[in-house]
Amino acid sequence: MDKISLPVIAVNFKTYPQATGEKAVLLAQACEKVANEYDFSVVVAPQIADVYRVSKAVDIPVFSQHMDSGEPGRFTGHVLGEALVEAGCSGTLLNHSENRMQLADIEMSLRKAEKLGLYTIVCTNNPLVSVAAASLNPSAVAVEPPELIGSGISVSQSQPEIITGTVDKIRAVNKDVVILCGAGISTGEDVKAAIELGSQGVLLASAVAKSDKPEAILRDLADPIRK
Ligand code: G3P
Repeated sequence: MDKISLPVIAVNFKTYPQATGEKAVLLAQACEKVANEYDFSVVVAPQIADVYRVSKAVDIPVFSQHMDSGEPGRFTGHVLGEALVEAGCSGTLLNHSENRMQLADIEMSLRKAEKLGLYTIVCTNNPLVSVAAASLNPSAVAVEPPELIGSGISVSQSQPEIITGTVDKIRAVNKDVVILCGAGISTGEDVKAAIELGSQGVLLASAVAKSDKPEAILRDLADPIRK
């Protein structure tokens, strides 16, 4: 992710009602406000139906939550890369645990995203899948143990060995890919631990997207990594 400065906090809006429709715009604006106060990137990933309205409202990078590899034409119901670019997307998540893809489809989507100039964050559920994803050369791999997703129990504090072990395995096949970690990240201490363990940022959702004070939560998340 050379044009997105590191470290990065990527906020997945999922399908939370508090982050849907016009509320997605308000949440993205809150993220942008905090990003402008600090020296790190905040990326937002609203639902695909909200990508256009969010990207019109903010200047921070807007990602899709998914992208298919299909070409313009006879692909009903697919998420077309070209349409994401037109909608103002800078990148896309792929293979989130809540929307898994087959390996061959991840690879095709990655090559398509490269052609379109879209950043890619491939989510992975364990060390072996992380290595497979890293070998496909995405912009970033986000390591997220599924059992901790939405739990409020931080992977970086409760299972640090997963991050360190996975970072080493990823670096054996790809020296440059950005490594993020996620699942249960809720506090600045969680983010600090994630960075100290060798990741270059976090992918999170519920702590920010479900909060009625997202700005305050984001400031708390960002404070320990302030330069
Ligand atoms: O995509 C981010 C994610 O799956 C982690 O969710 O709610 O545990 O931060 P959460």
